[in-house]
Amino acid sequence: MASSFSRKPHRNRLRRVPERAFALLLFLTLFSCMLRCTECVSSSNMILIVTDDLDVELGGMTPLKKTKALIGEAGVTFSHAPFHLGFFFCGVKYTATPLCCPSRSSILTGKYPHNHMVHNNSLSGNCSSRAWQAGPEMQAFPVYLSKKYYQTFYGGKYLNQYGMNETGGVGHVPPGWDQWHVLVGNSQYYNYTLSVNGKAEVHKDNYEKDYLTDLILNRSLNFLESRSPQHPFFIMLCPPAPHSPWTAAPAYQNSFTDVKAPRDGSFNKPGKDKHWLLRQPVNPMPNSSINYLDNAFRKRWQTLLSVDDMVEKLVKKLEELKELDSTYIFFTSDNGYHTGQFSLPIDKRQLYEFDIHLPLLVRGPGIKPNQTLQAPVMNIDLPMTILDIAGVNISALDMDGQSFLPQIAPSLRNGTSRPYFLVEYTGEGHFTKDPDCPKLGPGVSQCFPDCVCEDAFNNTYACVRAFKDNNLQYCEFADDEAFVEVYNLTADPHQLENIVKKVDPTLLQAMNQKLIKLQSCKGDSCRNL
Ligand SMILES: *[C@@H]1O[C@H](CO)[C@@H](O)[C@H](O)[C@H]1NC(C)=O
Ligand SMILES: *[C@@H]1O[C@H](CO)[C@@H](O)[C@H](O)[C@H]1NC(C)=O
Ligand SMILES: *[C@@H]1O[C@H](CO)[C@@H](O)[C@H](O)[C@H]1NC(C)=O
Ligand SMILES: *[C@@H]1O[C@H](CO)[C@@H](O)[C@H](O)[C@H]1NC(C)=O
Ligand SMILES: *[C@@H]1O[C@H](CO)[C@@H](O)[C@H](O)[C@H]1NC(C)=O
Ligand SMILES: *[C@@H]1O[C@H](CO)[C@@H](O)[C@H](O)[C@H]1NC(C)=O
Ligand SMILES: *[C@@H]1O[C@H](CO)[C@@H](O)[C@H](O)[C@H]1NC(C)=O
Ligand SMILES: *[C@@H]1O[C@H](CO)[C@@H](O)[C@H](O)[C@H]1NC(C)=O
Ligand SMILES: *[C@@H]1O[C@H](CO)[C@@H](O)[C@H](O)[C@H]1NC(C)=O
Ligand SMILES: *[C@@H]1O[C@H](CO)[C@@H](O)[C@H](O)[C@H]1NC(C)=O
Ligand SMILES: *[C@@H]1O[C@H](CO)[C@@H](O)[C@H](O)[C@H]1NC(C)=O
Repeated sequence: MASSFSRKPHRNRLRRVPERAFALLLFLTLFSCMLRCTECVSSSNMILIVTDDLDVELGGMTPLKKTKALIGEAGVTFSHAPFHLGFFFCGVKYTATPLCCPSRSSILTGKYPHNHMVHNNSLSGNCSSRAWQAGPEMQAFPVYLSKKYYQTFYGGKYLNQYGMNETGGVGHVPPGWDQWHVLVGNSQYYNYTLSVNGKAEVHKDNYEKDYLTDLILNRSLNFLESRSPQHPFFIMLCPPAPHSPWTAAPAYQNSFTDVKAPRDGSFNKPGKDKHWLLRQPVNPMPNSSINYLDNAFRKRWQTLLSVDDMVEKLVKKLEELKELDSTYIFFTSDNGYHTGQFSLPIDKRQLYEFDIHLPLLVRGPGIKPNQTLQAPVMNIDLPMTILDIAGVNISALDMDGQSFLPQIAPSLRNGTSRPYFLVEYTGEGHFTKDPDCPKLGPGVSQCFPDCVCEDAFNNTYACVRAFKDNNLQYCEFADDEAFVEVYNLTADPHQLENIVKKVDPTLLQAMNQKLIKLQSCKGDSCRNL
């Protein structure tokens, strides 16, 4: 009774003086607009999607048709947008290191591995370790975004060792994140535990309730609906796809039945003049290996169809909320992948283009449609670019990357791209012999069918990847042979021939000098080459 009594006169008052209500509404609108404009330097929202193990060289973007169209040709789909709001950038993007935890640590900190000190996927290699939490994580990009009043959301895989009891368990929520829906451990599609803002949430394997790619999308849509519109938002979504165990959504488990891994380039070629690990596999590969990798290839694509749905639903929601024109969307991966290249069944962790070259699509304000850029950018550039958009003074940051806003939106920023950069990797191994492959000694890991091991402690290398005048890659191994590999990517895009013995020694010396400098670079010295 009381409530209906109190509501009635309120309605009457409004009906009698609608002009007063209108004035109030106008005031509130202006006030919220003022808030938005004074407090927040930037009003651009951002979404960063980081897939797990998605390649670009083997056609990894092929199943992502809606992603390519919606991030790529949105100018057409949403034609009400003014012409200066552009939409597409398809760049040449590299990872500073081809392994999940070190690469994700680079994406968060803008640092090369030698500066964030995360060397492998283990706690002992600093993956989500106490040292990481006390150091690099405190200076990761979300910290600066939140200082600029961004509302932030993270959903999905974070770092491979996140949520371990030794390091604070699910109660550890890194600084800068307002909403935290993050997977404990490595990629899973079902039967996982999430940290939901510091509380454990256990999931089983019911598709409607638990499928991780869909779940993080749903939570991000809730975040978009319930957030306070005065502040810009930043959403980071890290689906498990297309990482193993390659569990597709029920609707997609019969897709791509005829698809096989591509047979071109270096597929099933011997790695004869390459470092010792590449000289091990039997060539040509046995059928068992080929069947195994074809199956993995197909299942990877199946899991990506849910990622494609994710992008579509996000874009639709942004359009519904009238936020699409003020939102940048970045779509990328942590490292590349190979299936049969140089007779290696499946993995990443190698220096070749298939493992270090990644997809990158960006749409957003100031980006011209349908651009394909040749200037290389890196994963360490993502935080600098994001913070540049957010209006942070990026020259004051302790990061090794550089903003690529000048490359994607020259109307907003001037700047040049770097002529060369570093790729560095610390090999993983086991101290004991692999029981399935007793012929192999200790020190190796990632052994796939037919005992082809794809990593080892001495698969530790550093490379200079140069562009412009010399489209070259120069790599040195920390192994017993001090092995060197050199490729001319112009003449030999599939890296079939190691030209170390043919190339002019003065060029080798110059590359070696560049490598030494890059391996100890920090901040400006990584950029001003
Ligand atoms: C982008 O390029 C595609 C293919 O050339 C074309 O169909 C589309 O209209 C272009 N989109 C924009 C926004 O220019
Ligand atoms: C882990 O990182 C800390 C600094 O964050 C560093 O002192 C330590 O040496 C690193 N550990 C390894 C194994 O690199
Ligand atoms: C952490 O400890 C709890 C309680 O002992 C246990 O249930 C859980 O499985 C542990 N989590 C991990 C990731 O080891
Ligand atoms: C999830 O765990 C249950 C219980 O251990 C198991 O029966 C089921 O097969 C698992 N589901 C998946 C998709 O791995
Ligand atoms: C996500 O939301 C859709 C639409 O409401 C629903 O059908 C689906 O079951 C949800 N999935 C998960 C894993 O929450
Ligand atoms: C391996 O597969 C190829 C092509 O399918 C086939 O021709 C060949 O007979 C198979 N070899 C063996 C040993 O099964
Ligand atoms: C940005 O930071 C640099 C380096 O700390 C400083 O020299 C410069 O004055 C700052 N610029 C602004 C606009 O605050
Ligand atoms: C870029 O540099 C040119 C030439 O110096 C200048 O005219 C232009 O205003 C600059 N653009 C931006 C976005 O700073
Ligand atoms: C990860 O790095 C640490 C520190 O270098 C090392 O002790 C550990 O053996 C490495 N883990 C693997 C699996 O290689
Ligand atoms: C690399 O390490 C493996 C395993 O410990 C060893 O068998 C091999 O000889 C080493 N190769 C080189 C070139 O250092
Ligand atoms: C790389 O190949 C291109 C094209 O064949 C050639 O012009 C260039 O001289 C080569 N560079 C080196 C360093 O061999």
